[in-house]
Amino acid sequence: MIQKLKPVHYTTREYFDKEILDVFEANWQFACMKSELEERFRYFVVEYSQNSYFVTNTGKDGIRAFKNVCSHRANKIFLDDFGKRPVMCLYHNWTYNSEGKPINAFLKEFFETPKESDLTLDQYEVQIVGEFVFVNVGNSKKRIEDQLGIFYDKLIEISKALGKKITYDSNLHKANWKLLVEDVLECHHCLAVHKNSLVERLGLGHRPFINFEFFNGNSSGHLPIEKDRISVKRKKLLMYLDNREFKHDSYYHLFIFPNLFISSTEGISFYVGHALPNDFLVTNLRIRYFECKIKNMEEYRNYQDFVNTDIVNFGNEILNEDKQIIQNVQKGLSISNKGLYLNKEEFRIKEFQEHYFSQIKAYDV
Ligand code: FES
Ligand SMILES: [Fe+2]
Repeated sequence: MIQKLKPVHYTTREYFDKEILDVFEANWQFACMKSELEERFRYFVVEYSQNSYFVTNTGKDGIRAFKNVCSHRANKIFLDDFGKRPVMCLYHNWTYNSEGKPINAFLKEFFETPKESDLTLDQYEVQIVGEFVFVNVGNSKKRIEDQLGIFYDKLIEISKALGKKITYDSNLHKANWKLLVEDVLECHHCLAVHKNSLVERLGLGHRPFINFEFFNGNSSGHLPIEKDRISVKRKKLLMYLDNREFKHDSYYHLFIFPNLFISSTEGISFYVGHALPNDFLVTNLRIRYFECKIKNMEEYRNYQDFVNTDIVNFGNEILNEDKQIIQNVQKGLSISNKGLYLNKEEFRIKEFQEHYFSQIKAYDV
């Protein structure tokens, strides 16, 4: 079938500005992991398009989210992706409390005293689902439960299985964010693009997604792993992880609309990908890998660290294979003037695009 998205939807700034409003700001967005905000003053910054906000642990008032712009003269308050410090702007040291109000005494010395509300940082609603922190940056009227549907409980289930975070990284892709989404929603490309990685080393790609579930653009599915000598040997080496809670004989993939990717390799390791559109041609992919949780992991720490290195190297190899192809597709799209086609194996993309278009208010391209 011809797909709903045309080349123009991936290649124009005008259209991009519209989808940021209609899609990104009309939904709860994933921001970061709860474990990244464990102590008071830990913060995480999220940036996409012309927006920047931060989520911070305020201590007794819990986790809160604010626009990352100082009310004095608009300096950005936090510059790094994450860190640990009070909400203080480094231009003139204005410092904000857990309600986003500046607390410095010298604030009395204005020519004309501004209203307190004018000096208060814009605050956004926060909801925490298991380990996943979501923020309502626009004005979504939906409850997070209604947006996630059946995947609400799934996120809680996965959260219980997540062990230590192995790494956090980010990787700029010269491609529209929707290409990153569509790439993870099918394994039709695996035999061609991931022949030496996912196919040979993990036994994926011979069969399409099975046991899939859909809800409002969110979707999940299992890719069967072909058992061969390598995976039997792997199983023996990883026997100490047998008491992990989230166990499945497959590569499980979950997509949370519009830009969160979660995958679990047999419940042994997890990948959390977060695609943040910088502009219509550049997407920042935030990458997190997690080990699984078992009660006595520290007894195996040395060995697990070795396994973790392999998880990161292997994961990055796959991400780079995807990155090359996604960037090539972007180049192809800018010279294409034809429709694009989906085959039956690409049904999760079809679902994504249908939901995506149900959110775009009016389009005319
Ligand atoms: S701009 Fe932030 S303190 Fe002045
Ligand atoms: Fe891929």
